[in-house]
Amino acid sequence: MSDRDAAAESPVNPSIRRVSDWNADGLSDLAGEHDTPLYVQDLDRVRENCERLRDAFPDADIRYAVKAHTGRAVLKAVREAGLDAECASAGELDRALAAGFGGDRLHYTAVNPPARDLDYVVGVAEAEPDLTVTVGAVDTLDRLADRGYDGRVCVRVNPGVGAGHHEKVRTGGAAKFGVPYDRAAAVTRSAAERFEVVGIHAHAGSGIDPAQLDSHRELVARLGELARDLLSPAEGDAAPLDLEYVDVGGGFGVPYEEDEPPLDLPAVADATREAVAPLPAGVDLAIEPGRYVVADAGVLLTRVNTVKPTPDERVVGVDAGMTDLLRPAMYGAYHPIRNLGGADGAPAPDERDATPVTVAGPICETGDTFCNDRALADPMRGDLLAVGIAGAYGYEMANQYNSRPRPAEVAIDDGEAAIVRRRERMTDLTTVERTVEEEGR
Ligand code: LLP
Repeated sequence: MSDRDAAAESPVNPSIRRVSDWNADGLSDLAGEHDTPLYVQDLDRVRENCERLRDAFPDADIRYAVKAHTGRAVLKAVREAGLDAECASAGELDRALAAGFGGDRLHYTAVNPPARDLDYVVGVAEAEPDLTVTVGAVDTLDRLADRGYDGRVCVRVNPGVGAGHHEKVRTGGAAKFGVPYDRAAAVTRSAAERFEVVGIHAHAGSGIDPAQLDSHRELVARLGELARDLLSPAEGDAAPLDLEYVDVGGGFGVPYEEDEPPLDLPAVADATREAVAPLPAGVDLAIEPGRYVVADAGVLLTRVNTVKPTPDERVVGVDAGMTDLLRPAMYGAYHPIRNLGGADGAPAPDERDATPVTVAGPICETGDTFCNDRALADPMRGDLLAVGIAGAYGYEMANQYNSRPRPAEVAIDDGEAAIVRRRERMTDLTTVERTVEEEGR
């Protein structure tokens, strides 16, 4: 598809690709060919985002938080762009390995890890001893030691300061995550008696916008202070630790709303370096962006199937729902929506009146709406809508509620489009189940 043409209209490698920057004809062709709902993920844009992160943080270790999008095509593009992988489960680790990440580029973050996951990770570490396990509880350290693990460990600290786009994604102050800050030095020193402690880590939360940069700075400063204490302890009896890095987590936000300014990434990078300083030579800064790498590289295409005027609002029914893109229902998240047109005999969208509408999916839940009272070029049955900035935590959080097969996904690579995830079929809904009688047979 000729997405390149549209990209050429915007500045080279802009800091955000808005839904209006996508090529409408190209997207309409893809929807016509592959049906809807359909995710489209542009690997060329993923690469640009990796490049901008590299440019802003030239000396840092950059670890892509794969939970934002674990599709194999994306993982491969990110690996080739030189980023490491940060994985939150055995499943994510397995997929990162399958995408070609070697152990030295794998970081597993264990949050209350199930035994099955720990068994798997310890097994992987035998073959890939350069893998690092990031741990946020002494219990987890004990469970690793019980399994004979004595390899690379990074201690996750709860910095006591959180940030993010919604209370559900502010991790920094939540007791669930990390060793409390006032115990972090002691826990890290004692971990070093059993493991090779290579780093310390904290993550404030997800979707940090320019207004929350002070929290980010505070977190980074606290980690810097802890690192200096561990590297050159003030107390005479503590042995200095040989840390390789200080990992300040991810959370770099992207502007979902059309008039929201993008993060000034170089300024964030400067603020981060300043807040963590001074770190001795040989101790690297590490970051773990997820959303920033993939969010604006993806759109969700959905077809209008019902238009219903009511006394209070005009409801536009579409074939995608909260099962395909959960973020609006779960966090009240805003996603930009653009009407690409296509209804039989209807004028082009830019010739229609902007009309306030509710866009709602097919799920039997009141929360299954993508927006309320939003002005769109008057949608008609048969139109195609593009839901923007859907590349992060979009397909990744899709599910089969209401027995809905998950959508297909197309990737664009060097301007060429290909299906990288087929649409699930009805039979995919039931492959893992059987009745008690069938099991007994
Ligand atoms: N590192 C750690 C330890 C994390 O827990 C996360 C995200 C990241 C890095 C990456 O954060 P990012 O750069 O993507 O903001 N489902 C939510 C987001 C949950 C994020 C969880 N942890 C959403 O759709 O907004």
